[in-house]
Amino acid sequence: MINLVLFGKPGAGKGTQAEFLKIKYNLVHISTGDIFRDNIKNKTDLGVLAKSFIDKGDLVPDQVTIDMLEAEVDDNSQAKGFIFDGFPRTESQAKALDVFLTGREMKIIATIALEADNNILVKRLKERGKSSGRTDDQDEEKIWNRFNEYNKKTAPLKNYYQNQNKFYSVNGIGTINDIKKRLSKLIDAL
Ligand code: AP5
Ligand code: MG
Repeated sequence: MINLVLFGKPGAGKGTQAEFLKIKYNLVHISTGDIFRDNIKNKTDLGVLAKSFIDKGDLVPDQVTIDMLEAEVDDNSQAKGFIFDGFPRTESQAKALDVFLTGREMKIIATIALEADNNILVKRLKERGKSSGRTDDQDEEKIWNRFNEYNKKTAPLKNYYQNQNKFYSVNGIGTINDIKKRLSKLIDAL
């Protein structure tokens, strides 16, 4: 089973590349950000809670996110594998994911980071903010807060996955097509 974590700063291209990888490798793509946004759109209790964090560019609390992710995996029990996009984002999420997957005789085979400079990412996000309706893309201060959250809470996961020999980096700058090729080459060699 191919279970991948797509890792990277806000705007690094996780969602864009997951759309391609899920088709190429027949995987189920789970983006916690997308699920939160669906809940916000449908005004569920989870959506109301998540909105209060996402609008500021803060992470949503761990347990809420972990419970939601686990339910999503269990809803797709026939999957040939998963792409986790934007999860885990803290060490406690990573540990919970390992415990959860082990309990289902599954595991992460690779965590792949899309690497890119902040300044390029800010440009991408602000550009998307003009049309996406994502409040967290429209304000540079919120974008920088998302990077701060990433640096403080998510970046340390590199170490967590390196200790498991599962961490890989890919240059996330270039055309979307170039990056697709880099990712495919890496995944085919796993
Ligand atoms: P989430 O939705 O995961 O957002 P994010 O990680 O901040 O970043 P994006 O989704 O914006 O970036 P991406 O890497 O997917 O890039 P994309 O392909 O879209 O999370 C949102 C919020 O939800 C969080 O802030 C948090 O509050 C909450 N949340 C989610 N998960 C959580 C968790 N596990 N724990 C706690 N809270 C959580 O690309 C970005 C743009 O760039 C697009 O417009 C795209 O077209 C463009 N682009 C992509 N690739 C290229 C390229 N190669 N060249 C030029 N442009 C490109
Ligand atoms: Mg995304």
